[in-house]
Order: sequence, then structure tokens, then C-alpha cells
Amino acid sequence: MTKARPFIKWVGGKSQLLEQFQNYYPIELRRGAIKNYVEPFLGGGALFFEISHRYHIQQAYLSDVNKDLILTYQVVQQRPYDLLDFLEQYQKEYDQTEQDKRNELFLAVRKHFNLQRFEINYKKLSDNWIPRAAQFIFLNKTCFNGLFRLNSKGEFNVPFGKYKTATIFDMPNILAVSKALQNAEIQYGDYRNCFEKVNEHTFVYLDPPYRPISATASFTNYTGTVFTDQEQLQLAEFFRKLDQQKGAKLMLSNSDPKNENSEDDFFERAYSGYHIFRVSAARAVNCNGDKRGKIREVLITNYQYEPQTLEFHF
Ligand SMILES: C[S@@+](CC[C@H](N)C(=O)[O-])C[C@H]1O[C@@H](n2cnc3c(N)ncnc32)[C@H](O)[C@@H]1O
Repeated sequence: MTKARPFIKWVGGKSQLLEQFQNYYPIELRRGAIKNYVEPFLGGGALFFEISHRYHIQQAYLSDVNKDLILTYQVVQQRPYDLLDFLEQYQKEYDQTEQDKRNELFLAVRKHFNLQRFEINYKKLSDNWIPRAAQFIFLNKTCFNGLFRLNSKGEFNVPFGKYKTATIFDMPNILAVSKALQNAEIQYGDYRNCFEKVNEHTFVYLDPPYRPISATASFTNYTGTVFTDQEQLQLAEFFRKLDQQKGAKLMLSNSDPKNENSEDDFFERAYSGYHIFRVSAARAVNCNGDKRGKIREVLITNYQYEPQTLEFHF
């Protein structure tokens, strides 16, 4: 059986960091005492797929503020075979279109995707969700860097990525993802809505849009709105509330401002009293050659780090 992994490219995706993150999971998860998982900034969902593969998660609550992303997850969960029919068509069309005509194909799909948004009832899965989910995946795999950006009218406006070849989908993975999602409740909405789903036996992973590491590098623009420092601080308040009122195990990641300025103690102040670790991520910070390479991310937990000694696999 294929191990599920993200079926979309997503800015801030955590696939590169999974190996390092596993050292910081709560010991209760590794011992099998945690069976409830909550991830309210879902994006590509790399950590959810990893954790649901390694541990016995009975129930998951997954959410994101991106409506079309959530619609697509729900279609993968509930109608994977119908989705695959559409994806096969898109793959064929892309492959059979000559190189210099692919931009036109991309723009035609993007136009349709944008016009169709008025026809969609995001509250209830219906037949018109399936081509929309296929278009979302097609655009994600063929647009520039897998970005998702909306203009002020709510139109997706990322240009074509000019790829010579594009793998729009991987059938065994779509089916593995669908299976991994069977115990998940998937909801569109703000991260705060997860509060009711959390209890003392829950592991919550929070991966908000990055705090920009420099004035020029903005990784935060996912839906046309920016996640400001003010919002980072509100999230820190929410973290405290989850800790104090729910007693859940919490892990949060963000970019480390000390990459750029060793004096910047934004997260030390916002999360005072909690545990802050630093892990390395390979990604380009800016165009300046010597700043490329490994940069750190902060990992914040409300539990002690215990080196991996016991591992239970299911
Ligand atoms: C850093 S990405 C998550 C990356 C993800 N962990 C992965 O591995 O791909 C942050 C996500 O938060 C979502 N987001 C932004 N503001 C939000 C909010 N207020 N509530 C919930 N989700 C939000 C964005 O749509 C984006 O998908």
C-alpha cells in the first residue's frame, strides 16, 4: 500500500522537515496514548500524512481558511475515483498540447476556474465540486511554483509555470490520501474554530503562514491577505488558551527571525514559558548566494522534549 503524501505543492510545505520534527512529537503520541489529531493550518498536510501513517489516529480534524483547498480535500476523501477521471483528462490534454500552446490551455482552465466560483456552494459536496477539485490540482501543478494567490476580486491570478513536463497527479497516492482521510473531519474556516475539537488527548500541530524573515521575503500571501505580527500574537494567545483550558499537546512551527537578526526575540516573547527549539530547513532565503542553504525554523511546544526511546508502530 502506498504511503500517503501531499498531493499538491504548497508554500511552507513541511515534507523536508518531517524527519527532524519526529524527534519533537509528544511522548504520549509515540506511546499510543494520543488518538486525536488536529491541524488547523492544513496546507499540503505533510505532517498529518506522516503521523496518520506512523501512529494510530482514530480521529482527525483538519482545516484551512482556503475554501478551494478544503473543497479539494473533501473531494479526494469522498469521490476519489470520479476525481481521477477528470485528472486523467487534464493530464492527457496537457501532454498532448504543444509546448507553445500550453500557456493558452493554462489560461483557459484558470478562466473557467475563476468564473465557476459563483456557481459553487462550498457548504455541500455536489457534482460540480469534482471538476473544480481537478482544476485546482491542475492549476497547482502547472502554475508558477505552486503558488496560490487571489486578487482583490477573488480571482486566482498566478501565471503559468512553463513546465516542459508536469505530473498533475499520482493515482496510487490519490487513493492512499483518500484512505488516510477516512477518519478525518475536514472543514473550511479560521484556525480558532478548532477549539471545540480539542481535548486533553489531542495532539495539535499549528503551522501558520510564516512571519516574513526579511522585509522583502514574504511567504505569507496565501489567500490575498497577509498574516501580520498582530495575528501572530493573537495566535500565541490562542496557543495559551488551548494549553490552559484544554491541556492538549501543542506543537507550532514558524520561520526563525534569528536567521536575519540574532537580536529578534519575537517568538521568545510571544511564547514565553514554553519550549522553543530550532531545526534546520533547506530553503533559499534570498538571492544572495551566501544566504542560501540551511536556515532554521522555530518549533514551539507546551511539553518537554524527550529523546526518542520508545517507538510504537501500528
Ligand atoms: C505554512 S502553510 C501550511 C503548510 C502545511 N503545513 C504544509 O505542510 O503544506 C499555512 C496555511 O495556513 C492557512 N491559513 C492562513 N490564515 C489562516 C487562518 N486564519 N486560519 C486557518 N488557516 C489559515 C493558509 O491557507 C495556508 O494553507
